[in-house]
Amino acid sequence: MQAPSLTAQMAEFRAPPGTHDVLPPQSARWERLVALFARRAGRAGYQLVVTPVFEELAVFSRVGVETDVVRKEMYDFLDKGGRRLALRPEGTAPVVRAFVQHRPLTPFKAWYAAPSFRYERPQAGRYRQHHQLGVEALGTEDPELDVEVVTLAYEVCREVGLAGVTLLLNSLGDDACRPPYLGALAAYLAERAGQLCDEHRERAAANPLRVLDCKREACATATADAPRLLDNLCDACRQHFEQVTAGLSALGVPFTLAPRLVRGLDYYTRTTFELQSPALDAAQNALGGGGRYGRLAESLGGPPTPGIGFGVGVERILLAADHEGVFPPPASAVDVWVVDTTGGREATRLAHRLRTAGVACDRSFDGRSMKAQLKSADRAGARLAAIVGAHEAAAGTVTLKDLATGEQEEVPREDVAKLVEERLR
Ligand code: HAM
Repeated sequence: MQAPSLTAQMAEFRAPPGTHDVLPPQSARWERLVALFARRAGRAGYQLVVTPVFEELAVFSRVGVETDVVRKEMYDFLDKGGRRLALRPEGTAPVVRAFVQHRPLTPFKAWYAAPSFRYERPQAGRYRQHHQLGVEALGTEDPELDVEVVTLAYEVCREVGLAGVTLLLNSLGDDACRPPYLGALAAYLAERAGQLCDEHRERAAANPLRVLDCKREACATATADAPRLLDNLCDACRQHFEQVTAGLSALGVPFTLAPRLVRGLDYYTRTTFELQSPALDAAQNALGGGGRYGRLAESLGGPPTPGIGFGVGVERILLAADHEGVFPPPASAVDVWVVDTTGGREATRLAHRLRTAGVACDRSFDGRSMKAQLKSADRAGARLAAIVGAHEAAAGTVTLKDLATGEQEEVPREDVAKLVEERLR
């Protein structure tokens, strides 16, 4: 059998399973979402932090050796220098690692837009490379910060236009109240081990909290009357939680208490929350989530520093937006199409003039006919064509054509940017 030609082999290339390309016009929504997030976070005093896509594996082991993210899904590898590294599965540990390394002033308020990697079974809304927008705030235990962070996450979803978002809120306690609770829960589960799903029969002792979060019928039934951490918080955690709920209520942010909300990472203490959308399937209905982490900075070698943050998934938000029919891509990428039937140099000059004046414009190449250029203008969704033919080139003018009404007007070249801006207003 003859080997396939190189060209035939190349045609087979696809983005790897669980990854995806983002092309126009969808990429314009992506860009808008990142800008919206950056604006909201910036307005609240969070500044951009960029960390490497890979870190020492141990940085991520701290998010919890018992979590799926660490046990099963890590993209870890040995580099050529024999270092054990991993692609970032989430955004919190790297920001805290950077905080510990650089020791900025507190409170330290960071936002990020970060590709994240988890070796999961690909399905709608669940990818091996996904993208998170998130914030982390370190250096204060003040529950008013929890209110700020939770509200920011909620309002980002609302600004996208998602109407059906539910904010679930829980407290996972602290080192004082969680261990005795876990003991009581483990004992409760041990009595019902036979009724749990296969996975949790094995793992209930190692991570009893996860059983509460299990979506399988067997675990849900067996834990229906399990003790709740929310009922067993110590005084300090209870007061903290009450202040968070009171703060959210004062801002009119609606939330639902979710005593079974556990979250998939081990570093959480006290406030935890998740934003869910009814537009997404139950297996991946979380648009985002977050919470407090009391010990992460310490476990990464820093001074004890409390933190709180959240991450939302860009893909999930856009998927939910699709379902709700909100946050559409913009109708056009440019406002003006420059049409030149004299060879192309006039279009170069005019496009440059317009772009310098701040007008979004594009033009055709390859000396196409007037008809073909106007067709491109239509396809791009431009509102105006700025036309230079032999007559305009000689007269030092430009013909502005409104592409919706067909109305046109010949204007002096020096005035074109000003007049275009007026027409687009
Ligand atoms: P997480 O809940 O694991 O939390 O992920 C945050 C969000 O990222 C999820 O709600 C979801 O929208 C998105 N996401 C996660 N995995 C995937 C995937 N495989 N495919 C598509 N989207 C996904 C964290 O990562 C924490 N670092 C959040 C946090 C920040 N907690 C405190 N600070």
